[in-house]
Amino acid sequence: MTTETLAPAIDVGGAVAGAAAPAVASHDGQGGSDPMAAIPSAVELRGVSLYYGAFRAIKDVTLNVPRQRVTAFIGPSGCGKSTLLRSMNRMNDLIPIARAEGSMLFHGEDLYADYVDPVEVRRRIGMVFQKANPFPKSIYDNVAFGPRIMGAKGNLDDQVESCLRRAALWDEVKDKLRQSGLALSGGQQQRLCIARAIATEPDMILMDEPCSALDPRSTLQIEELMAELKEKYTIVIVTHNMQQAARASDFTVFLTMDQDRAGYVVERGPTLEIFTNPKNQLTEDYVSGRFG
Ligand SMILES: Nc1ncnc2c1ncn2[C@@H]1O[C@H](COP(=O)(O)OP(=O)(O)OP(=O)(O)O)[C@@H](O)[C@H]1O
Ligand SMILES: [Mg+2]
Repeated sequence: MTTETLAPAIDVGGAVAGAAAPAVASHDGQGGSDPMAAIPSAVELRGVSLYYGAFRAIKDVTLNVPRQRVTAFIGPSGCGKSTLLRSMNRMNDLIPIARAEGSMLFHGEDLYADYVDPVEVRRRIGMVFQKANPFPKSIYDNVAFGPRIMGAKGNLDDQVESCLRRAALWDEVKDKLRQSGLALSGGQQQRLCIARAIATEPDMILMDEPCSALDPRSTLQIEELMAELKEKYTIVIVTHNMQQAARASDFTVFLTMDQDRAGYVVERGPTLEIFTNPKNQLTEDYVSGRFG
């Protein structure tokens, strides 16, 4: 476990250097024992609502994201999966009308506290998007980008190699590191983005439909990669692919929305249970393909 805080990496003076970690709540907000709260949490959401202007996109989500596990968010289009995911590394801050309510702790620290530096949050919590988005730079420079921003100087060869190896891409690119990242195949570009995300040594990686543009083979490669990465990182993945959620995740969170279009969590728990023995009819209809 890290002892770093989310305060700015460079002390600008007067900033509070860390907050008292609140006691970990063991209840699940639903009165029962919660398998997702039984192991240490990377993120704890309590009563989280997310708004775009007056529109509430997510209502009252209480959820523990277990550390060093893969958690899948599933649910119909528009129910707020991406919104919820982006709130966890403060990417929603980049949308002027977006607003968060409730409490969100990352390793016990309030992600939205005044002293917290969103840039540091995004270093610690990386993100991989639906469409692979390598920078128009060489493969090497894509991976070295984050470390350089963080002040790394000199030869980054070892670091670049290690990230590309962990992203299961090294063997395919080791002879063309100076070629453009954009010249890779879609699946390779997505693994390059994962290499870039892990180069800043994050604790958690958020993936928003990372395989939706990939063929089955590249999809399996990314899933295998997630299984390896979770030894070190906490992973949250949004997916519309039920087989992928069933194969690749340890825990599943099913969201849907009401008439008011505000997304909420219907059911969550170990993936096997959600898929084979869901408690809620809405979950059963969704995972069996009858809805959504
Ligand atoms: N930047 C934005 N400004 C205003 N409303 C937004 C914005 N982004 C999303 N929304 C709205 O918030 C709701 C949730 O959107 P979100 O993208 O989180 O859904 P999603 O579950 O990820 O859907 P999909 O499966 O289609 O990706 C939708 O009603 C959407 O129209
Ligand atoms: Mg989405």
